[in-house]
Amino acid sequence: MIAMSPISSIMISLQGSVHAIFFSPARSTKKIVEAIAGGISHEVTQHDITQGMHNAILLSRHDIVVVGVPAFSGSVPPLAAQYLSKLKGNGARAIIACAYGNCHYENTLAELNNICVDVGLIPISSGAFVSRHSMFPELGKGRPDQRDLDNARQFGKKSVMHSRIAKGESLSIRENKARRGQGMVPSVVKATADCNYCGRCVQACPSSAIAIDNPRKTDKKLCISCTRCIDVCPYGARKFSGLMYLITQKRMVNKNKERKENEIYLPL
Ligand SMILES: Cc1cc2nc3c(=O)[nH]c(=O)nc-3n(C[C@H](O)[C@H](O)[C@H](O)COP(=O)(O)O)c2cc1C
Ligand code: SF4
Ligand code: SF4
Repeated sequence: MIAMSPISSIMISLQGSVHAIFFSPARSTKKIVEAIAGGISHEVTQHDITQGMHNAILLSRHDIVVVGVPAFSGSVPPLAAQYLSKLKGNGARAIIACAYGNCHYENTLAELNNICVDVGLIPISSGAFVSRHSMFPELGKGRPDQRDLDNARQFGKKSVMHSRIAKGESLSIRENKARRGQGMVPSVVKATADCNYCGRCVQACPSSAIAIDNPRKTDKKLCISCTRCIDVCPYGARKFSGLMYLITQKRMVNKNKERKENEIYLPL
């Protein structure tokens, strides 16, 4: 099982390259993954797979890969899982990370661990980092902050200092079955009358849910509520709405007010 361990004094020399792979609609996961990778090397190859894995990512067993996704309803977003399944790990070591909005990450790390193992990566450490909740932005407001990013950098450094990286043993993460199926908020992001049809959200949407000929139309079945369109709209014209959203927001904010800390797992 996994446990915290003191910093090992064994520093391995990196023979391969460092890669940062992330699915990050609202860009917090990106910040965290960049900080982790930055703690390992100044030269990092970035792969933003939020809108798919368009080019093959070539990895070798000497490489270190930081893989990051957000927790969506306590799980790896299905689109991210689909894109990551195309990876060919070739025995590269993986540091796995999730961003979560100060509620619970539940099975996200365990699922991401399994995806990484399935594509031939060898997970060596994992971490869950608090960040602004993209759906309920009052939660995790201002995070990741400087302390979180320093924490992420240290985590990256410690992950490659650890002796287990040299042995190539895989980290196993227990699934949190008790908390499974916490449910999604039944809410779709809609455009308001402030939309001027600039089309940015159409280009940025990871699931092609916004109509090209009329960006005010969102396909409810395709929308994964990822908030990327809210993030890219220069006119603040995209929003969650509806009574269900407001009720859930109130409940979630009341329940998760207290600052949570990042959780880091390194093998003993
Ligand atoms: C659809 C959706 C579901 C989410 N579910 C959770 C959750 O179960 N627990 C949690 O703590 N945060 C949850 N969040 C918040 C995100 O995990 C958090 O905002 C994360 O930083 C988003 O990453 P990004 O900025 O890279 O998109 C959810 C956000 C969205 C949009
Ligand atoms: S980005 Fe905003 S203004 Fe532009 S099309 Fe989308 S909703 Fe409309
Ligand atoms: S329309 Fe839905 S899926 Fe597309 S960017 Fe907006 S929130 Fe994400």
